[in-house]
Amino acid sequence: MSEGYPLELRKAIRVVEETREERLKKKYRRLTLEERDELVKKWHPDYRPDTKRELKVGPSRGAIVYNEVADLLEAWPIADPSKIDLSTIDYDVDILIIGGGGAAASAALWSLYSGIEPDNILIATKLRFGDANTVKAQGGIQAADRPVDSPVRHYLDTIGGGHFANKPELVRALVMDAPFIIKWLEDLGMMFDKTGEGEMIEYSGGGASRRRLHCARDYTGLEIMRVIRDEVLNKGINILEFSPAIELLTDPETGAVSGAVLWNLETSEYIIVRSKVTILATGGFGRLHLAGFPTTNHYGATADGIVLAYRVGANLRDLDSAQYHPTGVAYPEAILGELITEKCRSLGAQLVNVNGEQFIYELEPRDVVASAIIRECAEGRGVLTPTGVCGVWLDLPMIDMIRGPGTIKKNLPAMYRQFKRHGIDITEEPVLTYPTLHYQNGGIEINVYAQVLTPQGTPIPGLLAAGEVTGGVHGKNRLMGNSLLDILVFGRRAGMTAARIVKETSSKPKISFKHLEKYTAELEKINVPKTRKAPIILPDYRGNPDYRGKNPYLKILEITY
Ligand code: SIN
Repeated sequence: MSEGYPLELRKAIRVVEETREERLKKKYRRLTLEERDELVKKWHPDYRPDTKRELKVGPSRGAIVYNEVADLLEAWPIADPSKIDLSTIDYDVDILIIGGGGAAASAALWSLYSGIEPDNILIATKLRFGDANTVKAQGGIQAADRPVDSPVRHYLDTIGGGHFANKPELVRALVMDAPFIIKWLEDLGMMFDKTGEGEMIEYSGGGASRRRLHCARDYTGLEIMRVIRDEVLNKGINILEFSPAIELLTDPETGAVSGAVLWNLETSEYIIVRSKVTILATGGFGRLHLAGFPTTNHYGATADGIVLAYRVGANLRDLDSAQYHPTGVAYPEAILGELITEKCRSLGAQLVNVNGEQFIYELEPRDVVASAIIRECAEGRGVLTPTGVCGVWLDLPMIDMIRGPGTIKKNLPAMYRQFKRHGIDITEEPVLTYPTLHYQNGGIEINVYAQVLTPQGTPIPGLLAAGEVTGGVHGKNRLMGNSLLDILVFGRRAGMTAARIVKETSSKPKISFKHLEKYTAELEKINVPKTRKAPIILPDYRGNPDYRGKNPYLKILEITY
């Protein structure tokens, strides 16, 4: 055995090894819908009453959302209208796209393919273009494109996984566009995993009734971003990096969104952008460490998009639900919370408790598997690390036993290297895992054209949104491989809609902060402290007691169910 594990964990691993042959012979049964429901309601953080509260201001007042999200929605703008000069416009474009990941790139490309000049499209990113969760997505992208599969099956799986809370027309758009998106990526040069005969290799994901995950080893998101980022760069679309949006601008006469104020992270200067259409593609809230969980997310995932859209009247939905990926790293601590792709379980790795027992069918939907792991730890069947982090084993060497030697190195090369760097050889040893905050299931409500909607269901003129910032596609729980699909499907739809709106709009809009008047009056009424401001842009890990001053894992161990 390698030196990556301390002695006590090496002893615990022996139990995993001793029970392997026996576990290989058994087939763990799937849970019934009632059993899934019971498990999730008892153990999933979405059902802990202390994690959420009611929103007191804004268009979705009365909705229940996670506490950390409520704090940001009930916060003062960073931009002080009395100090920002709107008379000088720095960028005057047709389409402003806010975000640096796959949804932003897809929106930009489809605006261009639909007839907008590259000079009239501006992508504004918080960090570098491509520093986004897209590049961290490992497992794959779903599309029903085999004869034994169909978009109808994909639709039913997605709705079932989402606890029937999804917006049906958005799911329909997702699954129907999926095969086209795979073809588009192939045409752009994406290197999908294929057989020697050139057939696409497709895997199962949790909650899916057919194999429909298309992958590039275990770095699918990175490979997708490689080809679409290259395409954006080759087409000459404008990109402004390190310039996050801190407020939207609105036309005082029509109420339409007419641009944004960006903040230059290097010089601390404001940048004023006027646009006929603004597309929010800012991603989710993973860096907020909801309920004290670690995260798989990149540093920029701080819920900026929902904060900005809410102030101009957008309806928010399903923000009472978050996705905790079942298998985050629990050891070594240096990579705590990082993703261990679901593809490991697609390939045959089993989840095992301290007694060497398999305790769940590994390809149940994610919220079900995460709940089972939390239960094992809370009921004393987890494995404790020397620093008090609890986890269960993911028995990775089973993959090579089931599928033949070399499978891990071939299919999970990034995972293999990640653990090898810490002295752990995943072809020979299991890894310790615990759920980690992964995805914002809900968000801004949109229609099939990616237009942002008010609570009354009417589009907010000039504002579109795509990707993780939106809600409705995934209901209360997303299936694996549907997020990479979502960003490309709805990024494309947003780009095409934006181009259509631009062609129908002859005059330039006016810009103002008018929308803030109503919003700040509401904040005043409920006495929100003036120090609470949003968007936060980046998480603050410097010991602020109100914001992640604690080791989130210590907090997990304090939870009493
Ligand atoms: C994974 O590979 O498990 C993450 C990808 C996703 O969330 O769809």
